[in-house]
Amino acid sequence: MKLCIIGTGYVGLVTGVCFSDLGNNVICVDNNINKIQNLKKGIIPIYEPGLEELVKKNYKENRLNFTTNLKFAVNNSNIIFICVGTPTKKNSYSADLNQLYNVVKSIRNYINKFKVIVTKSTVPLTTGDHIDKIISQKKSKNLFSVVSNPEFLREGEAIRDFMYPDRIVIGTNNIRANNILKNLYDPIIKRGIKYLNTSRRGAELIKYASNAFLATKISYINEIANLCEKTGVNIEDVSIGMGLDQRIGSRFLRPGPAFGGSCFPKDTRAILSTAKKFKTNLSIIKSTIKSNEQRHGILLDKIKKILKNKIKNKKITFLGVTFKPNTDDMRESSSLKLIPKLHKSGAVISYYDPSGIKNNFQKYKNVNFVDKISTACKNSDLIILHTEWNEFKNLNFTKLVKKKNFAIYDMRNVYSHKRMLVNKINYFGIGR
Ligand SMILES: NC(=O)c1ccc[n+]([C@@H]2O[C@H](COP(=O)([O-])OP(=O)(O)OC[C@H]3O[C@@H](n4cnc5c(N)ncnc54)[C@H](O)[C@@H]3O)[C@@H](O)[C@H]2O)c1
Repeated sequence: MKLCIIGTGYVGLVTGVCFSDLGNNVICVDNNINKIQNLKKGIIPIYEPGLEELVKKNYKENRLNFTTNLKFAVNNSNIIFICVGTPTKKNSYSADLNQLYNVVKSIRNYINKFKVIVTKSTVPLTTGDHIDKIISQKKSKNLFSVVSNPEFLREGEAIRDFMYPDRIVIGTNNIRANNILKNLYDPIIKRGIKYLNTSRRGAELIKYASNAFLATKISYINEIANLCEKTGVNIEDVSIGMGLDQRIGSRFLRPGPAFGGSCFPKDTRAILSTAKKFKTNLSIIKSTIKSNEQRHGILLDKIKKILKNKIKNKKITFLGVTFKPNTDDMRESSSLKLIPKLHKSGAVISYYDPSGIKNNFQKYKNVNFVDKISTACKNSDLIILHTEWNEFKNLNFTKLVKKKNFAIYDMRNVYSHKRMLVNKINYFGIGR
């Protein structure tokens, strides 16, 4: 099949590459010329395990191409996937759909034969209806069908998640469009993956309801971890004990920093904004957002307590700053709140992240990237394990820090409390 993918970011690039690897002809479009030129040279704009090899392989085999020419890409495709960003609007909770509507207004000019137009971007309930209306102003209804196909991949696991998802959700009542997409996804469906055809609005809501639920699960276990810390209960036992109940499930029951990333924060806000429009009170999601916002304060208080309220001139090391491992994505990472606050209190901060230096911290005088774990940890007063990259899991801190009286704040509960005690390290985890 001939596909056009608009927006070559985390979702668009993975979608394009995976569909090309499944034997389709794919043209990836982006309005960022630099990105397109680099992709043609095999330079990948994001860090995502396995992506580079797959891009190079499919580009070489001519199934995958990159362009800034939207007209050419739309003209030469049967299925168009819209994968542009839908960030939070400034000073508002609602999703900013400017990128999306700009794309829609452009592609409607280039529809030359029947096209299935698929929104993979996460878009609020009824956005598909609006897209339909915008295109109908210029093109006859029998030339296109607008479908919602939300994406559930996780950064860091994106290729596996795309190829082996938990489910494929297709929102359309149009039989022709549904058949075309079922055919496209057939190699994945054949692996036993569930294909759910629902209404377009249903698919749009499934995405937000899923993300808001997962975000709530994280906030829930974070709050239970707070209670564990006050009562001497080990959160890990609680997570295991809860997770063994199949109605609850064991995933997303690990406490940590506030949830971040490009999806949960913006999607919980956006669903609230949609609910307001439809005069519905989503009080649980409201509480989740509030709980998550308060999380930074709770972690900062703990850091102050660990350092006995003396933060000025203390050397603090962050191991990992991205919102999760195996991605370079900094969007709404909790480190963006913690580091500036600690810097303001006079701490001298070094950070190491396997995905490299971050522009976000360039403006702070005493926040420095170091390219080695050993340099980052040397002479540190406090090491904060912020993101659980594999390379942090087996470190000999006594050797690395080379001084007495340092502390470790393990925000992901990666290390063994017992081993830390044996090594006489002042160790703190979350909820234990
Ligand atoms: N990142 C994730 O893990 C994830 C997972 C599931 C769903 N989503 C959703 O997918 C969507 C995309 O997310 P992302 O993280 O890939 O975003 P991103 O910001 O990484 O990528 C968006 C891309 O769209 C391009 N773009 C913007 N306007 C364009 C235009 N007019 N023409 C061509 N290209 C244009 C940008 O240059 C950018 O490369 C969002 O709605 C997001 O909520 C993201």
